[in-house]
Amino acid sequence: MKRQAKLLARPETLPDSPVSLPLPAATFPLESEADTARLAAAFAAHLGAGDVLLLTGGLAAGKTTFTRAFVAALGATDTVSSPTYTLVNLYNSARPLVLHMDAYRIESVAEFYDLALEDELETRISLIEWGAKLADEFDETFQLDLQMADQSGARIATVSASGIAAQATLPAILSHFHKGAP
Ligand SMILES: Nc1ncnc2c1ncn2[C@@H]1O[C@H](COP(=O)(O)OP(=O)(O)OP(=O)(O)O)[C@@H](O)[C@H]1O
Ligand SMILES: [Mg+2]
Repeated sequence: MKRQAKLLARPETLPDSPVSLPLPAATFPLESEADTARLAAAFAAHLGAGDVLLLTGGLAAGKTTFTRAFVAALGATDTVSSPTYTLVNLYNSARPLVLHMDAYRIESVAEFYDLALEDELETRISLIEWGAKLADEFDETFQLDLQMADQSGARIATVSASGIAAQATLPAILSHFHKGAP
């Protein structure tokens, strides 16, 4: 697996990889839901099994809408619904497979580990709504924050990454979105 979640691989020793400075976050407008879908397609083109994308933003910011477009971009036929009450939805027609979680109701990190998602996190791309509260549990994450801009349906997106591999992938995602697919 190219990028492992911390909970999948608890190293006995400290990694000896070089220290890298984090890239600054990229902030840009999404004028419409179609723009949100284009950003989702850009992420879908560059994420693979084991990758984790943390989605933040207030109620109705567009986290589930983004996930629906992401799953559709992977060619899936699954119906994407909010996992507010199920906590986790698995989309099995997506390639790679997708795990969709809503951490809104997760009150402690222990509750997250009780879900025993290690295998699913390893074999799927994972999108986690209200994911900031789990950020410390992963060595590598992509992050997307969505904020309402006005009443028109526009959103302000802020995209960032933590971890060396995710930071190395982020420019390709942003370039895909801003310049169109290669
Ligand atoms: N630019 C946009 N991007 C995303 N959604 C948009 C946009 N403009 C309008 N919308 C609408 O805003 C709503 C977003 O709802 P959604 O369920 O995706 O939000 P959410 O962030 O998942 O909320 P929750 O915190 O309840 O999980 C949808 O009705 C969607 O059609
Ligand atoms: Mg939602």
